[in-house]
Amino acid sequence: MTTPPSQPESGPRFEHRSVLLDQALDLLAARPGGIYCDVTLGGGGHTLGLLERSAPDGRVIGLDRDPAALEATRRRLGEHPRLTLVHAPFSEVAARLGALGTGLLDGILADLGVSSPQLDVPERGFSFRGEGPLDMRMDPTRGETARELCARLDEDELAAVIRNYGEERFAGRIARAIKKDLGEGGLQTTTELAAMLGRVIPRPHGRIDPATRTFQALRIAVNDELDELDSLLSTAPLLLRPGGRIAVISFHSLEDRMVKHAFRADARVRPLTRRPVEASEAELDANPRARSAKLRAAERTA
Ligand SMILES: C[S@@+](CC[C@H](N)C(=O)[O-])C[C@H]1O[C@@H](n2cnc3c(N)ncnc32)[C@H](O)[C@@H]1O
Repeated sequence: MTTPPSQPESGPRFEHRSVLLDQALDLLAARPGGIYCDVTLGGGGHTLGLLERSAPDGRVIGLDRDPAALEATRRRLGEHPRLTLVHAPFSEVAARLGALGTGLLDGILADLGVSSPQLDVPERGFSFRGEGPLDMRMDPTRGETARELCARLDEDELAAVIRNYGEERFAGRIARAIKKDLGEGGLQTTTELAAMLGRVIPRPHGRIDPATRTFQALRIAVNDELDELDSLLSTAPLLLRPGGRIAVISFHSLEDRMVKHAFRADARVRPLTRRPVEASEAELDANPRARSAKLRAAERTA
């Protein structure tokens, strides 16, 4: 883990244990003087690691679409002379780096998905465990909420989202129930949706919570996560110098498949990981969120 920041923190805590931190920094071969972009700033853990490894004169650009992540890093690090924070989604990373005039990068790091603070603050609407509005936007300043998305899609489109992004076999039944409840003015909150899912999905003993797959599917759709990842994977080689590296940590099979394919099929990069790197038993004991994490890396060819 990285050393704690020297400055005292104030304001609400934004705590997120970074997953596969040293492994990701090693695969990036992060070194003094390097220029790195962490496109998933979150709680700033990987960014801190990049700042340490690139000292004394390297530079780090920390990007996130969630203003709360940027705010938390500002509180945690103060004005760090070698760190530039950018509020943007992956799909705008090339334009934003161009505007900053960074030149070609030595490394790009992406630690996909949601951060613990996004899940833990019920008002963000990501979690079925706490009561909040059915929102789920990583960037609450733009785009549709999960409730608005469910209202806009017809029943078949909604079922396709839940089936494809949640790998949920009861997608048709769930989509029908969502449309019915919305038509009656219901499903204002996460807990209302979770309770409905508990009623319509048969629950075999000992399995994951019946709300898990549908919440994941809606989150992926609300945040356009797969198109965003696709955009990042196709843009990254243009942003890296020859020999520069990209490391991606993913948390579900849809993402890992996309990363694996891009690293194998794109002639502009060569894969550095034949199999994905996974968390050690020690890391899993300390951080159960690391359980599904898969890290892959690739290098920009000449
Ligand atoms: C798992 S967290 C990153 C945690 C971070 N590595 C750390 O050590 O604290 C993922 C972060 O990426 C951001 N994110 C996810 N998809 C994004 C996208 N398409 N564009 C920009 N930020 C994104 C989320 O808002 C979230 O803050």
